[in-house]
Amino acid sequence: MKTIIEPFRIKSVEPIRMTTRQQRLTALQAAGHNVFMLHSQDVIIDLLTDSGTSAMSAEQWGAMMRGDEAYAGSPSYFRFRDRVRDIFGFEQVIPTHQGRAAERILFSTVCRPGHVVPSNTHFDTTRANIEATGARAIDLPCPEGLVPGEPHPFKGNMDEARLAALIDEVGAERIPLCMLTVTNNTGGGQPVSMANIRGVSKICRDHGIPLYVDACRFAENAYLIKLREDGFQNTAVIDIAREMFSYADGCTMSAKKDGLANIGGFLATNDARLAEQERDLLILTEGFPTYGGLAGRDLEAIAVGLDEVLHEDYLAYRLASVRYLGEHLSELGVPIMQPPGGHAVYVDAAAFLPHVPPLELPGQSFVAELFIEGGIRAVEVGTVMFGQRDATSGQEHPAAMELVRLALPRRVYTQSHVDYIVEVVAAVWQRRTSIGGFRFAYQAAALRHFTARFEPLYALGVA
Ligand code: F0G
Repeated sequence: MKTIIEPFRIKSVEPIRMTTRQQRLTALQAAGHNVFMLHSQDVIIDLLTDSGTSAMSAEQWGAMMRGDEAYAGSPSYFRFRDRVRDIFGFEQVIPTHQGRAAERILFSTVCRPGHVVPSNTHFDTTRANIEATGARAIDLPCPEGLVPGEPHPFKGNMDEARLAALIDEVGAERIPLCMLTVTNNTGGGQPVSMANIRGVSKICRDHGIPLYVDACRFAENAYLIKLREDGFQNTAVIDIAREMFSYADGCTMSAKKDGLANIGGFLATNDARLAEQERDLLILTEGFPTYGGLAGRDLEAIAVGLDEVLHEDYLAYRLASVRYLGEHLSELGVPIMQPPGGHAVYVDAAAFLPHVPPLELPGQSFVAELFIEGGIRAVEVGTVMFGQRDATSGQEHPAAMELVRLALPRRVYTQSHVDYIVEVVAAVWQRRTSIGGFRFAYQAAALRHFTARFEPLYALGVA
């Protein structure tokens, strides 16, 4: 069969409220043209994030009823811990309310001012949690990862030569750990190869530096290894995942992605002494070590989700729907990050709107037009999110790339929803030469993309 169908039936549905173009224009204006400020009920297809937006299965809802809410020693914790141990192979499993809580506890335990933490590319909360300790977060992506239009199977890889050079330059004693983000979200949702994980691990072990995996999308990364890397075609995806983590000393995880849950995360390691210090911090802000800021029922949902996310029928469908969206956009001529990664398609807004200069925020224009055209909410990953503003002169510096992420929530949308997304992008593509830029009307000093207000520099949404 050619069609990879959704490997599930739908038992419970959530209505989508259909809106008119005029209603969407009004809603967007009321939101200061910032899609983070929209009410989600005004959105037809929500591609803002794949985080915490998964549909849970009947098994997960069933497990939630089994959730034991004991303050200490709940059987739900032990089911969660055993599932994490089985897949990730780490003895010490510390639940947290989401990924960034695991990051905060890890980095505030091991990082000090003067330290340096390399990664293929840090996610923004990871970077912020490292920098909050006075340490420096450094991105070492492979060069292929920085060229959106050039296909390469593993654009998420770390540049091993640059890692070795960094260790020589600053000294291993100033590097408390090295991170690998799988898949590399900031770098376009691109996978990291097993060869790269082995290579990075060897460099780290030769220098006594612990390697941690930011494991948010580990199952998608494992499946992309199966599809793209020689020697893994016949390996079960759970064994690929186990091998990936066998080269690491610990991981941080947001269960809101490949945990198929709406909230949750964990920190894991084999270092019992470190885990003791981390549990002390956990008690301060998250909770007792057998629940860590989650309800017992959340731990149950994650334990089941971590099993379901490794089902190969699910992963085949998951990667097929991302690829389907990417291929149909490419056929229209829409410039995207090639090849599509694990959880999202990234449109290259600088190439989509070449007449809009980076400081007129072409990604923001594309996001606004997608919403007006078809009620689709996407997210700008360009100068709005990562541009730098000089605090004294007010001078703006653009980001390295102007991307717009179309992130697909897990098990939520069907192929006809994806066909609709393609039609909406096609309609915006048709009228791209009449689309202009935006300017900031208000911006906060930090993380400005969440709360900024924008003004269009052209007549918005003119068909
Ligand atoms: N690491 C990566 C690679 C992420 O993508 C995220 C979250 C986190 C860590 C933090 O996890 O949200 O549970 O605290 N990414 C979301 C996104 C927000 O939209 O990509 P969290």
